[in-house]
Amino acid sequence: MKIAVLKESDPLETRVAATPETVKKFTGLGAHMAVEAGAGETAGFADADYVDAGAVVGPRAEILGDADTIFCVRGPEPAEIAGAKQGVRLIGALDPFGQKERVEAYAKAGIEALAMEWMPRITRAQSMDILSSQSNLAGYKAVLEAASEYGRAFPMMMTAAGTVSAAKCFVMGVGVAGLQAIATARRLGAQVSATDVRSATREQIQSLGAKPIFVESVEGIEGEGSGGYATEMSEEYQKAQAELVSGHIAKQDIVITTALIPGRPAPRLISDVQLATMKPGSVIVDLAVEQGGNVEGAVAGEVVVKHGVKIVGRRNMPGRLPADASALYSRNLLNFLSAFWDEEKKEPVLPEDDEIVMGVTLTRGGAVVNERLKG
Ligand code: NAI
Repeated sequence: MKIAVLKESDPLETRVAATPETVKKFTGLGAHMAVEAGAGETAGFADADYVDAGAVVGPRAEILGDADTIFCVRGPEPAEIAGAKQGVRLIGALDPFGQKERVEAYAKAGIEALAMEWMPRITRAQSMDILSSQSNLAGYKAVLEAASEYGRAFPMMMTAAGTVSAAKCFVMGVGVAGLQAIATARRLGAQVSATDVRSATREQIQSLGAKPIFVESVEGIEGEGSGGYATEMSEEYQKAQAELVSGHIAKQDIVITTALIPGRPAPRLISDVQLATMKPGSVIVDLAVEQGGNVEGAVAGEVVVKHGVKIVGRRNMPGRLPADASALYSRNLLNFLSAFWDEEKKEPVLPEDDEIVMGVTLTRGGAVVNERLKG
C-alpha cells in the first residue's frame, strides 16, 4: 500500500495533507509514504522531516507511480495526477457541489474520489471530520483578523490617561467556527453576544459567557435539519431575524458571521442598509465569503470599506494557520483510514455499505456513486 502526498498547486493553499507525525503513524501501520518535494514547505514542514519520519520524497511523477492512494487538500484536475495508476483512490477536500464537472472527470478517469467534507456527522466519525477541525481554527483566526483590523482595543483598559471601553462583538452562526469565535473574543476581553437559527445553541452561547440574541416572536422554530445542520428558514422568520439584527448590529463594534447551509449559498444576514447603521470603524469578518457571503458587499480575498465599516473577506481562513490546520487535517485522514485498517493486508479496507464510506465516496468503478450528487 503506497500513499502519495501532493504538493498543493493552488497558490492560495498553504496546507498539506500529511505531516511528519502522520507519515510516521502510517509507516507504523505498514504503509509506504511518498511525499512530493516541497509539499510541507508553506506549513513549516521540511522535506528532511518527512524523510526522517519514514517517507520517500521526490517529484510528482515519481511519487505518483504505483501509488494506491493520493492525499491532497484541494482536489487536483485529473490531468494533474495522470501519472497515477487506474483505480487510484484520491482523498481530500474535493468540494463536490462546487466541482461537479471535475468529479465527473474523476469518474471517467477511473479515479475513486473520496470527499472528506462529506463525512457523516455521527459520533464515530467526529475525529475524522475536516469541517470541524478546520472551522474551529477559522473561528479563532477570524477574531484575530478582526482585532488586527480594528482601530481600538478589545478589552476594557483603565489607564492613567483614561478608560478604554471593551469592544462589543456579535457572532452570527454558532456552529463549530462560531463557538470558537465566541471563546476567542471572550479571551481577548470583548463583550460578546451571538445568534443562530438552531435553538440548541442558546445554552452553548450562555455556557461560554456570551449573551444569546434570538428571534422569539416566530413560533415553532427549531432550525435544525439532518446531521445537526441548519435548514433554510421561512420568510416570516427571515423578516423577524432581519429586524432583530438591525436593532442589535448598530451597537456592535465587531461582527463575525459564520452561517452556512450545506449545498446552498450562504444565507444573507447583513444587508447594505443594516451595514449603514453601524459605527464607522467597526469591523465585520465574513467567514462564509467563499460560499457567497453572509454580508452584502463582502468580496472574497479583499477587505472592503463600506459606510466606514471594514468588511474582511479572507479566503481560506484555516490556511492562515497552516501548521495547525495541516496537523489537524492530516490527523482526520489518519483517523479515517486507520479506523478501517486491515492489519494483515497492511491497508485500509473500506466496506461499500459502511455509513462513513458511503458518505464520503463520490466515484467508484468509473461512475459517480454518491446519492447527493445524483438527480
Ligand atoms: P455550519 O458550518 O454548517 O453552519 C454554521 C452555523 O450557521 C450553524 O450553527 C448554523 O445553524 C448557522 N446558521 C445557518 N443559517 C443561519 C441563519 N440564517 N442565521 C443564523 N445562523 C445560521 O455548521 P457546523 O459548524 O458545521 O456545525 C453544525 C452542527 O453540527 C453543530 O451543532 C455541531 O456541533 C454539529 N457537529 C457534529 C459533528 C459530529 O457529530 N460528528 C461534527 C461537527 C459538527
